[in-house]
Amino acid sequence: MEDSIEVILQDYDRVLPKAGSNRPHHVLSACLGTLFTGLYGLWSLFVVPGFRKVPWSLKVPYLPSSKDQTLNIMKLLEGRTGRLADLGSGDGRVVLAASSAGFQSTGFEINSFLVAYARSKAHWTGVPSGQATFVQKDFWNTNLSTYNNVTAFLAPGVMEVLGEKLLKELPDDARVIACRFPFPNWPQQSSVGSGLDQTFAYDISSVRSHLRKVPNTVS
Ligand SMILES: C[S@@+](CC[C@H](N)C(=O)[O-])C[C@H]1O[C@@H](n2cnc3c(N)ncnc32)[C@H](O)[C@@H]1O
Ligand SMILES: *[C@@H]1O[C@H](CO)[C@@H](O)[C@H](O)[C@H]1NC(C)=O
Ligand SMILES: *[C@@H]1O[C@H](CO)[C@@H](O)[C@H](O)[C@H]1NC(C)=O
Repeated sequence: MEDSIEVILQDYDRVLPKAGSNRPHHVLSACLGTLFTGLYGLWSLFVVPGFRKVPWSLKVPYLPSSKDQTLNIMKLLEGRTGRLADLGSGDGRVVLAASSAGFQSTGFEINSFLVAYARSKAHWTGVPSGQATFVQKDFWNTNLSTYNNVTAFLAPGVMEVLGEKLLKELPDDARVIACRFPFPNWPQQSSVGSGLDQTFAYDISSVRSHLRKVPNTVS
């Protein structure tokens, strides 16, 4: 039951002979990889202990961000420093990228396997402790008021609820980066990338003053 996605993928590598530069095999390989990641995501929805307590409408499966997505996030955070929170940190790739850019970053992740994996990755890559921290916690039950810089790659259905939470908790000088799925009704400061890699930046002070001007828009 505790097979990791890596173990699953390794097994699958053994089953299919390596095809070198054979293109159809590469495509098949990529498709099966995606399929396994998807199945793993579904599996984690049902099996991960803390996850069962999260209401159905707020459950978000694991899907790692692409290299371009991570680069886009860092582009939108350029010039900023300090504390950063990644909501649902997965295997820790965003947290580790941010910590090497100088942020003291914290990843909140509900899946204990992913937390352990991210911690050991930080250890192997020699990230100083304190620069990157992984907390096994449900971010819906976490007060985020000490973070000025927040990143989230979640799911379309949760963005509105997340927006309400962040408006209640974040300081005025906070910047929020949303990956792939924008906040409905929030005016974006800027965005980079396109398609699945599109990433949006919001400054909480502008969001608040916009919503004061349009009070009948719920967000
Ligand atoms: C789409 S993945 C993004 C992973 C990572 N941020 C990245 O960009 O590669 C979302 C992650 O959020 C985690 N997650 C979902 N709901 C959560 C919650 N309530 N508290 C903490 N983590 C959660 C999932 O386990 C999953 O790893
Ligand atoms: C996040 O960015 C702001 C604005 O650049 C920066 O002043 C701050 O240091 C960062 N966060 C924290 C908690 O310091
Ligand atoms: C979060 O913590 C801050 C600082 O301790 C506090 O002022 C605020 O009321 C808290 N927010 C929520 C929603 O609990």
